[in-house]
Parts: sequence; structure tokens; C-alpha cells
Amino acid sequence: MLNITYLVTAGPTHEQIDPVRYIGNYSSGKMGFAIAERLAQLGAKVILVTGPVSLEVQNPAITRVDVVSADQMFEKCQDYFPTCDGAIMVAAVADYKPVHFSPEKIKRTDENLTITLCPNPDIAASLGKVKRKDQLVVGFALETAADEKKAMLKLQQKNLDLIILNSLGDHQAGFKYDTNKITILDSTGVVFTSELKLKSELAIDIVAKIIEIQQSRPGMC
Ligand code: CTP
Repeated sequence: MLNITYLVTAGPTHEQIDPVRYIGNYSSGKMGFAIAERLAQLGAKVILVTGPVSLEVQNPAITRVDVVSADQMFEKCQDYFPTCDGAIMVAAVADYKPVHFSPEKIKRTDENLTITLCPNPDIAASLGKVKRKDQLVVGFALETAADEKKAMLKLQQKNLDLIILNSLGDHQAGFKYDTNKITILDSTGVVFTSELKLKSELAIDIVAKIIEIQQSRPGMC
């Protein structure tokens, strides 16, 4: 039984434009929820900070924290991370949000409409910056083509211990599917590659790799 606590982020974030509209993405939350369930099955405690998804948590060892926007997800991750042994950042966080929220519904006109966006906080990078020696931070890299160089760059820029690359270009892989195909990299390069598999099966591989690394480092549980 694992005596650890992990923070997992999942799902999309929604960035509100007005009371009836938002900027979002197609993330289903399935990969993040599968990783949280696998950790819990192995005895870990899990804090699952999730954007809006239509999924249910099964294992009572998972504490679900619902958020809507990237700013809310950022705040919850800052709160919980210090009490955790590591974080797995699976959420598809919106990179930008509208500068202004319109409290009134924006009315249709015949003119073009411009909505100015500003960057959201990079949650994974912020945890990478403050992580202690005994904490792991794992990220995902979603690319339109399997690009190990881009994934490696993200690992370095966000100070991650591992990055899981998945490509939207692979058939039946990514956001909307139950299946995915991944490559795991650490700072030395590729450490794992998978076939196209169910996300629940991949969660087993991903968690095994994370635990292996955690247990191989002195000072970690
Ligand atoms: N991430 C995050 N906060 C953000 C953006 C991304 O925590 N504001 C995390 C994701 O959860 C993922 C990793 O950073 O673990 C990489 O996300 P990805 O969308 O692939 O990359 P970005 O950094 O957003 O870069 P780009 O969209 O330009 O590829």
C-alpha cells in the first residue's frame, strides 16, 4: 500500500466571457480521473482538482475539488501542493482568458467582435518552481504531432520530473477518446513508450513509472 498523497489536475478549464459564454476545450477529464483512480487503488490519497467534466469519482480515497477557471485551479493547486508528495498535471488548462468579463450578455450586432485575451497562470510551472526535493511534478504535453523535442522543452521550462507526451495526430488518441498512445520522457530522454491502449490501462503504466522514480530517489517515500 502506498503511503503518499498526490495532487492530480484533470479536465478543461472554462474562461467566462459573459454569463452564457466561455472559452473552453474538448478535454473529457478521462485520463486525469483514470490516474487518480489508479493511485487510490494502490493506497494513495488523492486530491483531484478538476475542471467541468461529466465524470464521477469511484474511490473514497479521492478528494474531489471542482473548479471552473484556470485561476481557480491555480489557487487550489497552490493550497494543496505543500501537503502532497507530488503533482500530476493532466488538466488541459486554457492558456488565455478574456481580459474583461461582461456581466451582461453580449448582444449581437453586424460588426466584428474582438475579445481581448490575457495569459492564464502556468500552474505546472508554478509548482515546478516551488517543489521541494521530496516532491515530483509530472506534466503532460499535448501536441498536434508526436514531438519529443517540444515535450523535452516543456519539461525543462516548467522544471518537471517527467512529461507524458500524447499526440492529437495519432488515430483514436487524445482528448475525446477512451484510448491514448503515450511517450514518457525524463530529463535524460524517452523512458517509456506505449501502444494505443485504454486510458485506464495507460494510467497503470504512468502511475507505475511515477512510483518507480519516487521510490528510487533518496529522501522520497
Ligand atoms: N499547464 C498548466 N497550466 C497552464 C498550461 C498548461 O498547468 N496554464 C500544464 C498542463 O496541465 C500540462 C503541461 O502544463 O501538464 C503542458 O500543457 P500543454 O497544453 O501541452 O502546454 P502549454 O504549456 O499550454 O503550451 P502550448 O499550449 O503552447 O503547447
